[in-house]
Amino acid sequence: MAGRIKSVLITGAQGFLGRHLVWRMMTDDQDLEVIGIGRSQQSHTFTHDVHWGSRRVRAPLPHYLEEACLPSRYRYFSIDLANGPTLTELLRDIHPEVVVHLASGLYGADPHLLFRTNVEGTISLLRALGEAEIPLTMFIFGSTGGVYGSIRPQALPIDEGTPCCPLDLYAVSKLSAEHVTRVLGDRYSIPVVVARIFNLVGPGLQEQHVCARLAAQCAAISERAMPARLTVGELDTTRDLIDVRDAAAALATLATDAAPGTVYNVGNGREVRVRDILTTLLQLSGLEETIRIERLRRAPSPVRRHCAAVERLRKLGFNAEHNVTASLRDLLDYYRHDVARLAG
Ligand SMILES: NC(=O)c1ccc[n+]([C@@H]2O[C@H](COP(=O)([O-])OP(=O)(O)OC[C@H]3O[C@@H](n4cnc5c(N)ncnc54)[C@H](OP(=O)(O)O)[C@@H]3O)[C@@H](O)[C@H]2O)c1
Repeated sequence: MAGRIKSVLITGAQGFLGRHLVWRMMTDDQDLEVIGIGRSQQSHTFTHDVHWGSRRVRAPLPHYLEEACLPSRYRYFSIDLANGPTLTELLRDIHPEVVVHLASGLYGADPHLLFRTNVEGTISLLRALGEAEIPLTMFIFGSTGGVYGSIRPQALPIDEGTPCCPLDLYAVSKLSAEHVTRVLGDRYSIPVVVARIFNLVGPGLQEQHVCARLAAQCAAISERAMPARLTVGELDTTRDLIDVRDAAAALATLATDAAPGTVYNVGNGREVRVRDILTTLLQLSGLEETIRIERLRRAPSPVRRHCAAVERLRKLGFNAEHNVTASLRDLLDYYRHDVARLAG
């Protein structure tokens, strides 16, 4: 990517993936100007909370990300996507060449908030780009693999041509925003790309995701910060896990090399069972023999199995660097060290 673009705007820049993308972009290209926006004030944390035992704290940054906040060529602005006029003003001022749109309401959020942030927020951003008449080389919309919904086992792995049938309102809002991106991209002559991101894993992951829920408990139990009783949900569902650092590298590749008008799966191309995630985390934390596991009775996930076909992304030269065990180890260490230190 080095030298091929001069400036990039990242929305949701203080979020889990946003922080990693800022870091990736700044590491890849020493001359690139990186601008971030989000609603929160500039901080040295993520925008979500995590737990250490029963203590709740604002999620700290892993050490490698702390450095990415500082350099003078990174600028952050606290702006709500809903604020169109301020966005237009900022865009006229900063003139980005590429926009990576990651700001989002996540799975489980209030439905009205999901549609306000994901659909109306995307309209607001694209209209601001149109009004500011910014000649972008690329607009990347951060979508989700959840838009595909439940897929017949014979149709796995899921390629980008698979019909979408989202099964929850988060995924419905993201699919709607994909269409908004296509239509307004066309109206304002903005080259757009959709990145359908599968399940992220790595340091800083929110506990609403199964890997972090399990890692947070394993870390706290192994350090005696909570009783040796671990709660788990379903174990036989499968997901495609991609390390957040790899997902950030994939987005950086798309920023310069993607074909406009194209959808790209951003995943690992491997199907991983929740049961195997649990076994790995127990092994890594030395808890296999000592722990009591309690199954929570929850309504089963309507999406039983998920796995992305990633040939389209690989054809751009992208290859993931982290395997699942390494990502889980880093996630566990994040809780044991960064979260424990802050909560301690
Ligand atoms: N995590 C995953 O496993 C996963 C999987 C598939 C796809 N994705 C997609 O990847 C993207 C990033 O996800 P993430 O896990 O990094 O989520 P995240 O940590 O919640 O980041 C999203 C950010 O969006 C910002 N935001 C929300 N509403 C906003 C608004 N109205 N105006 C401006 N900023 C707003 C929030 O920051 P402020 O509080 O500062 O506003 C938040 O930090 C999302 O588009 C998500 O749908 C994530």
